[in-house]
Amino acid sequence: MRRLEGKTALITGGTTGIGRATAELFIQEGARVAITGQSAERVAEAAAALGHGTLGLRADASSAADMADVAKRLQAEFGGLDIVFANAGIAHPRPLADVDEAHIDQQFNVNVKGVIYTVQKLLPILRKPASIVLTASTVAELGTAGMSVYAATKAAVRSLARTLSAELSPQGIRVNVVSPGPIETPIFGKMGLPQAAVDEWAASIQGKVPMARFGQASEVAKAVLFLASDDSSYMLGENVLVDGGMATV
Ligand SMILES: NC(=O)c1ccc[n+]([C@@H]2O[C@H](COP(=O)([O-])OP(=O)(O)OC[C@H]3O[C@@H](n4cnc5c(N)ncnc54)[C@H](OP(=O)(O)O)[C@@H]3O)[C@@H](O)[C@H]2O)c1
Repeated sequence: MRRLEGKTALITGGTTGIGRATAELFIQEGARVAITGQSAERVAEAAAALGHGTLGLRADASSAADMADVAKRLQAEFGGLDIVFANAGIAHPRPLADVDEAHIDQQFNVNVKGVIYTVQKLLPILRKPASIVLTASTVAELGTAGMSVYAATKAAVRSLARTLSAELSPQGIRVNVVSPGPIETPIFGKMGLPQAAVDEWAASIQGKVPMARFGQASEVAKAVLFLASDDSSYMLGENVLVDGGMATV
């Protein structure tokens, strides 16, 4: 028996990286999946490549109106939703001296407001029991130079999982967090840094991972599947680290 047979799932930020790998795994496990991203073209390409009736929706996670539209479309197309993976996120490392209002707003808008709007707008169409998984990061557990704003957004996400669990569990909705360590995805190319700086930074991070390597998006997807499925039926407000031991060992 496949673990998500007959379930429907929304994955925000499903065009690449962790969201895309999770969409692939959810589909293998029998789910009907919808993915979002910021560009209509990238979303359409990814949905077509995923196949199996995957619905691609252009929606900015930081827009309450866009996420309300996603809920309307999913109600019409899927008739309701069992799983939400609030995963869309951006990371722009910068030393504290260079942090300005635009830098703070951009990351908080996507990584924090985006998670709040995703959960809030999808809530009315959730079937019970439902599972919500939020993507935080191992950097919320550590002190990492240059990551002050990004790490703060992810600490907020970790906190949201506790609060939303208290608020939503009486309605039959579980909320848990997956916290990836350094994972090989396109996110590093989107940081607005020259490639040499990204390479140097990636090497210094890898040196801090006890398993001495970057993780793969598929390794995070397996933890998301566990949290999304009934296999984790007695887990609530929990944080699962998938970080090669970085924050623990
Ligand atoms: N890779 C890592 O090392 C790592 C470590 C810890 C945590 N994380 C977290 O894991 C999550 C996924 O990241 P990833 O590594 O898989 O990176 P990625 O490949 O860049 O994926 C990010 C996804 O989010 C989408 N996205 C970005 N801004 C969006 C917005 N405003 N509205 C809707 N979608 C948006 C992107 O699509 P478009 O760009 O096409 O819109 C893409 O689908 C993020 O929350 C990230 O912070 C990653």
